[in-house]
Amino acid sequence: MEKLVSNWSKNVGAVPEDYIYPPETRPGNMHIPIGESIPVIDLSQADKGDRTVTIQKIINASQEFGFFQVINHGIPDNVMKEAMSVWKEFFELPVEAKKDLYADSFTTKDCWLSPSSLNYGREKVHMWREALRHSCHPLQKWHHMWPQTPPRYQECVGACSVEIKKLGSKILRLISEGLGLHGEFLDEYSQTMVLSANYYPACPQPELTLGVTKHADPSIITLLLQDGVSGLQVLKDDTWIGVDPNPHAIVVNIASQLQVICNGKLKSAEHRAVTNSRKARISAAFFIGALAESIIEPAKALVDELCPPIYKSFKSKEFLPKLYETYGDSQATLEFFKA
Ligand code: OGA
Ligand code: NI
Repeated sequence: MEKLVSNWSKNVGAVPEDYIYPPETRPGNMHIPIGESIPVIDLSQADKGDRTVTIQKIINASQEFGFFQVINHGIPDNVMKEAMSVWKEFFELPVEAKKDLYADSFTTKDCWLSPSSLNYGREKVHMWREALRHSCHPLQKWHHMWPQTPPRYQECVGACSVEIKKLGSKILRLISEGLGLHGEFLDEYSQTMVLSANYYPACPQPELTLGVTKHADPSIITLLLQDGVSGLQVLKDDTWIGVDPNPHAIVVNIASQLQVICNGKLKSAEHRAVTNSRKARISAAFFIGALAESIIEPAKALVDELCPPIYKSFKSKEFLPKLYETYGDSQATLEFFKA
């Protein structure tokens, strides 16, 4: 439990040595402008006859950035706000109340609180965060395994999960159409949803550490809620750009297995989270992905003689072990699955 940053971060004036990244992976410029950021797409336009325009915006953003935010997405503000508030309550619980969920390495728990990454023991440097992880879909299968405290956790996170899954399916249908596939094509690759609720305590020396190191998400698509504190950055053309922490918007990013399915037509962008010295930050990443046994391969409709498959065919469950083997290097992992 002493590995949980929130357990001791308030009592230290400096970042401990094993949380200090080497100069080349440190955050660098701490004042990255948000101005030139990822596209913001008004999703209400998709239902108003502007469907093809919205689809084109999503495809363009997914090719250029691998990231976009959606507004007017249909998820009621209070659903997002209440979920955020129970995550906050959870992370602020005394350590004693969280100890049953704690696990610092690979675990068979269905719901667990981890320090840093999934692999604390193998990391040279630890990340300035802790994360609560559990499956969310189908809700009936999982919600009784979620935290019992705060008492409204299951109700609020359940309501939010259902909405996020619906929105994820809607976005995947727009993407399918945009790729020229039939609307339901990606439905079979989006049968699971796992949450990582991330807590980044305020950090005395944010320039030395990271909340999450550079990575691309491994699944199909990720929907992320933020609490209004900045920290998320996306790598574009070798430059880090900041993402506006709009608590009413939802950040969407293409994940690695979707890059395979669309044969590289959309990109899964690398991203990271930095910390700050003023405020703790909370984000909630919902990873939508395929079932373990699903075959992941370039869609047949997207390959032909002129455009051969870039990637091999593999089972979805083979992806994560490869990612761990490469210490979270998403590019090396994708390289491994190249045809
Ligand atoms: C993640 C992630 C970024 C953030 O959990 O995969 O990239 O802003 N989080 O917390
Ligand atoms: Ni991520």
